[in-house]
Amino acid sequence: MSMIKKVGVLTSGGDAPGMNAAIRAVVRAAIHNNLEVVGIRRGYKGMIDGDFIPLVSKDVSNIIQRGGTILGTARSEEFRTVEGRRKAYGNLVGANINACIVIGGDGSFQGAGIFSKEYDIPFVGVPGTIDNDLYGTDYTIGYDTALNTVVEAVDRIRDTASAHDRMFFIEVMGRGAGFIALHSGIACGAEAILIPEVDGQEEALHEYLKSQGNKSSNIILVAEGNNVGGAEQIANQIMVKYPEYDVRVNVLGHMQRGGSPSAFDRFLASRLGVASIDALIDNQRSIMVGFVNHDIVHVPFNKTINASKNLNKILLDVADILAH
Ligand code: F6P
Repeated sequence: MSMIKKVGVLTSGGDAPGMNAAIRAVVRAAIHNNLEVVGIRRGYKGMIDGDFIPLVSKDVSNIIQRGGTILGTARSEEFRTVEGRRKAYGNLVGANINACIVIGGDGSFQGAGIFSKEYDIPFVGVPGTIDNDLYGTDYTIGYDTALNTVVEAVDRIRDTASAHDRMFFIEVMGRGAGFIALHSGIACGAEAILIPEVDGQEEALHEYLKSQGNKSSNIILVAEGNNVGGAEQIANQIMVKYPEYDVRVNVLGHMQRGGSPSAFDRFLASRLGVASIDALIDNQRSIMVGFVNHDIVHVPFNKTINASKNLNKILLDVADILAH
């Protein structure tokens, strides 16, 4: 029998579209299982400050379609300290919270893992980040929406690229991972894609620039963490070396994180939110609920934090074949 009566839910790290759908699913699945729910505002910062709000079913009405997070989020430095976590524990105990669901990325799970080793409060993680860089789940909440946002933006830029015979360097997010760049690049028919997981792409880019001559537009998708440089920096070098190209740069930035979640992200968030409550009731702790081959899996925090998720590099060949 589970002794859990009251569950805290928080969103942590960068916001991602679908986090609200996940909060809704956690709250409603908890209530369905006769558990009380408390929202912890602004991630671990709110846990340290005791910034809690009770949540009932109607509090999560009409949020499944909204981007951002109704609870707010933060990247808390204080939670990395022993003193910060001690304060957080005091506040959880004071509010009779016996378990927590954290919706976020690997940094958030790392914090949860350390905390639950120090204190006897179980944590279950729900993967929420646009980067899709978490080991143990095929998809993270927010990734599909971000991909679609990038595709829409690049399609628009392509219109101008074609109209003016221009080459655009478009920088996308992803931190140290190239999922957004690679998958959106294929979906947009990008001429080249630079990602962090592959070295030596500078030479390949030069080969491409020397070899192609009859394309009226060129889109080079640049993942922010790639090994060649930022879009601005690469574009400056290319302009000097290949003055024949009319080059422009777009850094898409935080517009990739906002907006209404796609149908897939709402579905994923709903399933993972329910699975996170099921896992707690089943006495699981220090695990992330993931989605692999369209099914729910449980992955220990230390595995998802320490192992790196494989990106299928063969897809770069697919992109290359299709760009010629
Ligand atoms: O992890 C999500 C993400 O958007 C990354 O893609 C990006 O590198 C980072 O967060 C940006 O963080 P911030 O919003 O703190 O500048």
